[in-house]
Amino acid sequence: EKGGWDSYMDKEIHEDPAAVSETLLGRFDAKGTLNLDEVHIDEDVFRQVDKIIVVACGTASYAGLVAKYAIEHWVRIPVEVELAHEFRYRDPILTPRTLVVAISQSGETMDTLMALRHAREQGSRVLAICNTQGSTIPRESDAVLYTHAGPEIAVASTKAFVAQIVAAYLLGLYLAQVKGTMFRDEIRHIVTDLKAMPEKIQWVLDTQADTIAKTAKQMLNAHSFIFLGRHVGYPVALEGALKLKEIAYTFSEGFAAGELKHGPIALVDAGEPVVCIIPSPRGRAVLHSKMLSSIEEVKARGAFTIAVAEEGDESVANYADVTFWRPQCPTLLSPLVDVVPLQLFAMDMSVLKKNDVDKPRNLAKSVTVE
Ligand code: F6R
Repeated sequence: EKGGWDSYMDKEIHEDPAAVSETLLGRFDAKGTLNLDEVHIDEDVFRQVDKIIVVACGTASYAGLVAKYAIEHWVRIPVEVELAHEFRYRDPILTPRTLVVAISQSGETMDTLMALRHAREQGSRVLAICNTQGSTIPRESDAVLYTHAGPEIAVASTKAFVAQIVAAYLLGLYLAQVKGTMFRDEIRHIVTDLKAMPEKIQWVLDTQADTIAKTAKQMLNAHSFIFLGRHVGYPVALEGALKLKEIAYTFSEGFAAGELKHGPIALVDAGEPVVCIIPSPRGRAVLHSKMLSSIEEVKARGAFTIAVAEEGDESVANYADVTFWRPQCPTLLSPLVDVVPLQLFAMDMSVLKKNDVDKPRNLAKSVTVE
């Protein structure tokens, strides 16, 4: 079943590249135009959408948060991302022009299901992004865009996360296409970049595993971890921290790097491990330089700094004790690779601690109670 891997999680992390390529497969015509006929929502309805609210829990909500940056940039409509259990108990503003996107690997998460029921009662359309054919969430939604990550057995979500980002990006590009907020060529360009991502993820798996394993060993007795990111690196930081909590049982928290000086920097003491997601130096210069200042600040206070950075970015060498490298890629697509070393790192920590990697204590794969 595990096909020679030590755990399902190990197997599933190594299926990240396939999860991305399978989720892209068959969603374009010969000219590279996006074709989402499978969702059965009229193009006209999509054209009218003036707001998106993503509802999801845990890892799926972080995929939504990543997508917010891309969709707002591409489609120029507001995208809110809300934890499903919070969404339901306030009085969210929902209209027929609001598209609610429910993201769920299992399709059975009760909190997410209740949120989408509420949205539909209020007259909004719900599109599910789901990995499990025929599960409850897609059945109760107006439409579904499936992720094709394949069955995910390990409790901690890995390949489903990258597939959720891809599916949400396809939705964003599709909206841009029908609303005409982007040129066809721009869309095609991004699609080409997306198609190159599996290979980049594979590169991380093939070349970074040793450094990651060594670092996990070195960090085994750490009591807590801080993860910092900016822009799309922020949800990646949240996801990296969640993975460590779940399977290594290590207290860890992700912060928006800009928040550091508003409080969290007080936590940074000598030896505190801080994982920093460094954006591409070839992208927006301000993002890169701001993130470099953050790593510099924590380093100055004695933190043990772990950077996730782009190959060839020599500027991190001054501040990072260890670097997990990733290949060059556009900023908006970088979460698809940046999360991979963090998945491996959490798994390595869990194994070293002799935890049950696939079945962490107190957790269930699908949370079917509210
Ligand atoms: C994290 C994890 C959980 C799930 C969350 C939502 O590794 O597995 O945070 O992401 O319970 O589950 P789904 O996606 O099945 O709705």
